[in-house]
Amino acid sequence: MDLSFVGKESGMNVLLIGGGGREHALAFKVAQSSLLDELYIAPGNPGTVRHGRNVDLDLNDHAKLRSFLKEKNIRIVVVGPEGPLVEGIHDRIADDPELEGRVTVIGPRKEGARLEGSKDFAKEFMFRHNIPTAAHRSFEKGQVKEALEHLKVMTPPYVIKADGLAGGKGVTITSDIREASSVVKDMLEGKSFGAAGERVVIEQFLNGLELSAFLITDGTSFKVLPAAKDYKRIGAGDTGPNTGGMGAVSPAPFADKDFMQKVHDRVMAPTIRGLRKDGIRYSGFLFIGLMNVNNEPYVIEFNVRLGDPETQAILPRLRSDLLDLFEGIATGTLSECHIDVDDRTAVTIVLASEGYPGRTGKGEPIGGLELVRDAYVFHAGTALKKDQLVTNGGRVLSVTAFGKDLEQAIASAYRSAGPIAYEGKYMRSDIGHDLVRTPGPKSGSVQKV
Ligand SMILES: Nc1ncnc2c1ncn2[C@@H]1O[C@H](COP(=O)(O)OP(=O)(O)OP(=O)(O)O)[C@@H](O)[C@H]1O
Ligand SMILES: [Mg+2]
Repeated sequence: MDLSFVGKESGMNVLLIGGGGREHALAFKVAQSSLLDELYIAPGNPGTVRHGRNVDLDLNDHAKLRSFLKEKNIRIVVVGPEGPLVEGIHDRIADDPELEGRVTVIGPRKEGARLEGSKDFAKEFMFRHNIPTAAHRSFEKGQVKEALEHLKVMTPPYVIKADGLAGGKGVTITSDIREASSVVKDMLEGKSFGAAGERVVIEQFLNGLELSAFLITDGTSFKVLPAAKDYKRIGAGDTGPNTGGMGAVSPAPFADKDFMQKVHDRVMAPTIRGLRKDGIRYSGFLFIGLMNVNNEPYVIEFNVRLGDPETQAILPRLRSDLLDLFEGIATGTLSECHIDVDDRTAVTIVLASEGYPGRTGKGEPIGGLELVRDAYVFHAGTALKKDQLVTNGGRVLSVTAFGKDLEQAIASAYRSAGPIAYEGKYMRSDIGHDLVRTPGPKSGSVQKV
C-alpha cells in the first residue's frame, strides 16, 4: 500500500469493526495514536463514542462497505471479532479493484482464518509444522461408529470439540463415556451445532495451567504482545458453565521468561513459518490458547483475533503506538517496530447481568461510573435510553486496574468495580486470587491415549 500520502503531517482514517469490550479497548488504544485522523467504529457502543464515531454499517453489503471506505478515505480496517474474518471480509476488501489495494485489513484472509474457523484444520496445521498440541483424531458425518470406538480406547477425561465456530460453546470435557458418546453422536448427526459439528475433533486432555498468548504479524515477522490468563467459568473457583470470559490478569505469573521463550521458539515462530510454507498469507493478530504443562507449552487452540476480556487487560499495558504497528503491517516493516510494555500488573473484572451466560434482562439503569477513579471502564452490553446509560446484554462492562503487583491490582480493580451499580449486577469475586495463592505451575500431566 502506497503510504506516502499518510506522512506524519496527515493522519490516517481507521475503521474498527465490532461493538464489545474488546473493541472499546481497541478504540481507546487507537485513539491515543498521533498517526490517527478519524476513527469510525461499526457498530461501536456507548463507550466507543469517546474515541471515535459509531457508524451503522452492514458489513455483508459490500457495495455499501466499499463506498464508506472510499468516502471516508479509510486506510486501515481493524476487524475485532472472528465471524467476518472467517467469512472472508479481508478478501472482499483487498481484492476489490475499486479500492486499488489502498486499504490494509488487520486480520487474516479466509484461508488464514481457518486456523480458528476449523479446529481440524488447525490440528493438521500444528501436526504438519511440529507445533506441540494434544494428540487428536477427527471424525466426520457418517463416522459415528468409528468415533464411538475411538472413545473406548481413550482414557478420560474426553475432550470433544465441534470443528467449526460455535461461539465458545462447542467444547465438551467429560469423564463420562456415555455423555461423551452422546455428545459426539449428536454433533455428527447434525443435532447440535449444525454444520459446525458435522466434523468433530476428539483430543487428549491436557492437565496444566491455561493462558492466552498474543502476537501481531505482517506475515513475515511478528511481535509478541503481553500474555494474559482469563477466567472462563461463571462461578468463583472456576465453577459453573463456560462464558465468553469473566476476567483476565496480565501478565500471567506462571508464564515466566523461560516459559515465554519456549512459546516463542516452539509455537509462535513455527506457526508464522508454517503459514508462509503453506502459502497462507496472514496479517493481523493471532491469539494462541495455551496449556502450561510442567512448564512446557501445548497449543489448545488458535483464534485469529484478540480475546475478550484479555484485550481489556493487555492493551492498557501496551505503551507502543498501535497504529504504528498497523502501519508496520501495511508496509511489511513490522520487524522495525518496537514493543514497549508497562511492567505493572493489570487485572480486568467483567460485570455481567444476572442469568449470564443464559438469558438476562436488559434496560437496567447503570450508576456509579463517575465514582471510578484509578481504573479503565470498557463498555460491552450497554445502551443509551434518552441520556441514561442502561444494561444491554450478558456482559455489560469490564473494569481494568493496575498495580505494582498482582495483589495491588486485584484490590484496585475490585475497589473500582464496587461502586458501579445496576439491578442484577454480577461479577466473580475471585479474579486473580488463584494466582496469588499458587503463582507457579503445579505438576501437570499429558495423558497418554
Ligand atoms: N486438550 C484439552 N485439555 C484440557 N482442556 C482443554 C483442552 N482443549 C480445550 N480445553 C478447555 O476447553 C476450553 C475451550 O476450548 P477451546 O479454546 O479449544 O474452544 P473455543 O470454543 O474455541 O473457545 P474460545 O471461545 O476461547 O475460542 C479451553 O479454554 C480449555 O479450558
Ligand atoms: Mg476459539
